[in-house]
Amino acid sequence: MVILGINAYHGDASAAIVVDGELVAAAEEERFTRIKHTAGFPAHAVRYCLKAAGVTIREVDHIAIPRNPRARLIRKLLYAVKLPKFALERVRALGRFGRIKEALAQALDVDPKEIRATFHRVEHHIAHLASSFFVSPFERAALLSLDGLGDFASGMWGLGESNRIRVWGSVPFPHSVGMYYTAVTQFLGFWKYGDEYKVMGLAAYGEPEFMDEFRQMLRVKDGMGYEMDLRYFRHHIEGPTMTWEEGEPQLGQLFSDEFVRRFGDPHPPRTPVGRREENLAATLQARLEEVVLHQINTLYRLVAEKTKQPTKALAYAGGVAFNCVANGKIFDATPFEQLYIQPAAGDAGLAIGAAFYVWHQVLGQPRRFVMEHAYWGPSFSDAEIRQALERHGLTYRQLDREALTQETAKRIAEGKVVGWFQGRMEWGPRALGNRSIVVDPRRPEMKDILNKRVKHREPFRPFAPSVLEEYLSEYYEGSHPSPFMLLAYKVRPEKRSEIPAPTHVDGTGRVQTVSKETNPLYWRLINEFRRLTGVPVVLNTSFNENEPIVCTPDEAINCFLRTHMNVLAIGSFLVERAYKER
Ligand SMILES: [Fe+2]
Repeated sequence: MVILGINAYHGDASAAIVVDGELVAAAEEERFTRIKHTAGFPAHAVRYCLKAAGVTIREVDHIAIPRNPRARLIRKLLYAVKLPKFALERVRALGRFGRIKEALAQALDVDPKEIRATFHRVEHHIAHLASSFFVSPFERAALLSLDGLGDFASGMWGLGESNRIRVWGSVPFPHSVGMYYTAVTQFLGFWKYGDEYKVMGLAAYGEPEFMDEFRQMLRVKDGMGYEMDLRYFRHHIEGPTMTWEEGEPQLGQLFSDEFVRRFGDPHPPRTPVGRREENLAATLQARLEEVVLHQINTLYRLVAEKTKQPTKALAYAGGVAFNCVANGKIFDATPFEQLYIQPAAGDAGLAIGAAFYVWHQVLGQPRRFVMEHAYWGPSFSDAEIRQALERHGLTYRQLDREALTQETAKRIAEGKVVGWFQGRMEWGPRALGNRSIVVDPRRPEMKDILNKRVKHREPFRPFAPSVLEEYLSEYYEGSHPSPFMLLAYKVRPEKRSEIPAPTHVDGTGRVQTVSKETNPLYWRLINEFRRLTGVPVVLNTSFNENEPIVCTPDEAINCFLRTHMNVLAIGSFLVERAYKER
């Protein structure tokens, strides 16, 4: 039984393929088009998934689309009457979704009649809930989804039991925790789709000076609900519009004139931030944490009251679930003791959610799959990698695993910038040791070197650590593994001077715990570094330069050459270059 999940005509377009209840492949379209957060139809990702599963579209039994135009229809119609622009957008969206079979046939160059699969519509937030619970290790869990907007809702909650999800409630447009965060992100000068994580990094520098206003701006209601003070926003007037000229999604302005009256002129993009921006970011983050943790605590009580059987497990999804600073506080601030967030917690993950929803909830199949790692993307053989190296005229050495990890670890310890390209590409926005740039965490100057040579990021943004799972609690004030880099923990005070480069200004790190079982090669690299230096941590940043994470060997080599890294460990090959500081 083959199920293809397709997240189309939305930011982070993606595809995933599930065969007999097991995930076989999943990828974001952006990795192929090379445009961040690509929206539109994920033609490349679909072709990759079919190829990885060794099937053609004729052999696909079910196609799962994480969008249901009928969800909240009455509310949509009411808005359509009030907002003509929004009505027009609805008509366009319906048109696009009505032709999805044709778009698929065109992408695969087949006659639409050859696609015999049954099409299923899965509501956006149900797909989010499914994307986490159905691939989690939990038999029973509380479920929560929080994002900007999807199918006219911004949040949903319920209970997962075995192969069933029960939805208990949702928050309809225009109220949205995600849009609250995006609005302030825009005001602070970050207008690109997906820039919210930059503001999360900035928050650590400020004080939450404006809590009174922000508590008014985003309020919690009795039970699980929340609402915005709409005077500060304009999406309810303009309509929730997203466009994607040439693939890159863009949102219209979300903050209102009232917001400007209260906080002053918006911060101009690409200019240094000041104290006001730091404090606004800190307040934004502090209020988000209050609301999210309140929601999670309320959900815990709700499960206990409704079922008389509490659960300590939470499966969490949606764009807000990328807020690793809030996530890192869940264990201390709520009764939950187990947390699962899938690596593509945002809208890319909908492809997986919709596919597993069909397998379990529609077809009634039992659970059997747990997503324990994020390596669901394309991989390349040594023969393909060698050809790429030769095309670029590079000198290389071929090494066995032991020599490769030993030599690479040595270069890292020497302060070199190392590109590490191995195995299957990661699913989700974080590089987790297969498409990573790895450097020495002990050297405080590495942050500036990375920024100058490769990343060109705003100086306030932190870099993240990968730590051997076995040493997590020795270095960080947290014991719950974080395999997908979705939890920020405090670095133990006595260890802060040991690993300054991936430690943020507030003494935290957005940790990836590396397990010997799920990524033995990366584990071995860090372990070799530990043997050399005594430190079981490396700094891990994504293998890219202001672009989507590299997918192919050619992209990795181009990035390596362009950005003046010193070492490229790609497949079993090691490439080294002398580089002098300019
Ligand atoms: Fe979403």
